[in-house]
Amino acid sequence: MRLGLTLAASIMILASTAQADEKAVEPYVQSDANAGVLPMTTDAVFQAFHGRDGVDRIVHRLNWFHNHDPRLVDTFKAADNERLERTLSEMLCYILGGPCHYTGREMKDLHKDMGVQVFQLNAQIEDLQTAMSEEHVPVWAQNKLLAKLAPLKRMIVVR
Ligand code: HEM
Repeated sequence: MRLGLTLAASIMILASTAQADEKAVEPYVQSDANAGVLPMTTDAVFQAFHGRDGVDRIVHRLNWFHNHDPRLVDTFKAADNERLERTLSEMLCYILGGPCHYTGREMKDLHKDMGVQVFQLNAQIEDLQTAMSEEHVPVWAQNKLLAKLAPLKRMIVVR
């Protein structure tokens, strides 16, 4: 019994360590402005996304597509999944008018050497729509987020 409890405690510690395990990145200045777009002025859309839990589920599903959609896998194969999910979730929560701050890197600088093509951005948006629909986010709220993300295209796509 005692051994079992000790083992369970050890496994829990290992699991929480693994979750916080992100690769180091070059130093940068943290700012909400790094998200590249201003947030919504009320939290109505954030609520339609089922709050932070809903956003987390959508980001987790989207990142599954990053690692399985043949149009995206090559570009994402070296990505830090832990960090990507944390910062993308913060970013979407922030943009949707939720109580979050974006602590990730600046959009243009981050994506500048990736050679992202239009068809890849379109693929990612399609996957995001699937993830939002699976979360039962109403279409009007999905469209509000997509409209906010649209101006980011010129910062991410090179051709
Ligand atoms: C509106 C669309 C997009 C948004 C909002 C977005 C946002 C983000 C965010 C927040 C991060 C993590 C920031 C950080 O680590 O500090 C990230 C990383 C990344 N993004 Fe994007 N992104 C978008 C589109 C794309 C597209 C279309 C591609 C390629 C097909 C792409 C490829 C990547 C990769 C590979 C990383 C991981 C970088 C690394 O781990 O070093 N992104 N993106």
